[in-house]
Amino acid sequence: MDCFFRNDAEFDWLYPEHFQLMSQKQWTPIAIAKKAAEYLAVSGAKILDIGSGIGKFCLTAAHHNPDSHYFGVEQRHELVHYAKTAKRYLGLENASFIHANFTQLNFSEFDHFYFYNSFYENIDQKNAIDDTIETSYSLYDYYTQYLHSVLKMKPPGTRVVTYQSLGEEIPDDFKLADLSFDTLLRLWIKE
Ligand SMILES: C[S@@+](CC[C@H](N)C(=O)[O-])C[C@H]1O[C@@H](n2cnc3c(N)ncnc32)[C@H](O)[C@@H]1O
Repeated sequence: MDCFFRNDAEFDWLYPEHFQLMSQKQWTPIAIAKKAAEYLAVSGAKILDIGSGIGKFCLTAAHHNPDSHYFGVEQRHELVHYAKTAKRYLGLENASFIHANFTQLNFSEFDHFYFYNSFYENIDQKNAIDDTIETSYSLYDYYTQYLHSVLKMKPPGTRVVTYQSLGEEIPDDFKLADLSFDTLLRLWIKE
């Protein structure tokens, strides 16, 4: 199954065409996912992708890091369906997908986190994946503050990777350990 992780086009081929077409804007590029996953892959860790879409980050991460388990939470049922289908096709045991709003999860069950600016559709509706979900500025604020408050409760050593995020969801006690890809990818650790 290595061939699917060689580049974005080969991976995106696992999905229907309309998801392939939105890949550049909505799904983490393979090279970014690999680098982010390497940082989060502490052995035996449970890693949560907050807003996992079609599962591109989790599946790439799971393929390259068999000793960690990658969970994705996603509010759109259709995307969870395609993420699970791709997972079965790729035979990856260390990836799981949950259909829920991330606010419904118990964050104490996860060790480290990946976040690709998932709430942005609330302030830029024209680039939304579809119109099945209610979006608003107040939801953007609510989700950002909610994520900030759950990260605030995590213990020292907790790692977070953000991609294309403004950083508003990161509490002050997280230190920037590294940044790359024109500063779009940021690796954080709680002190
Ligand atoms: C930019 S996409 C990133 C997808 C995936 N993390 C990746 O890197 O390929 C953001 C995803 O977050 C989901 N999302 C946004 N708000 C959410 C929420 N409150 N709870 C769960 N999922 C959410 C969206 O439906 C979308 O699929």
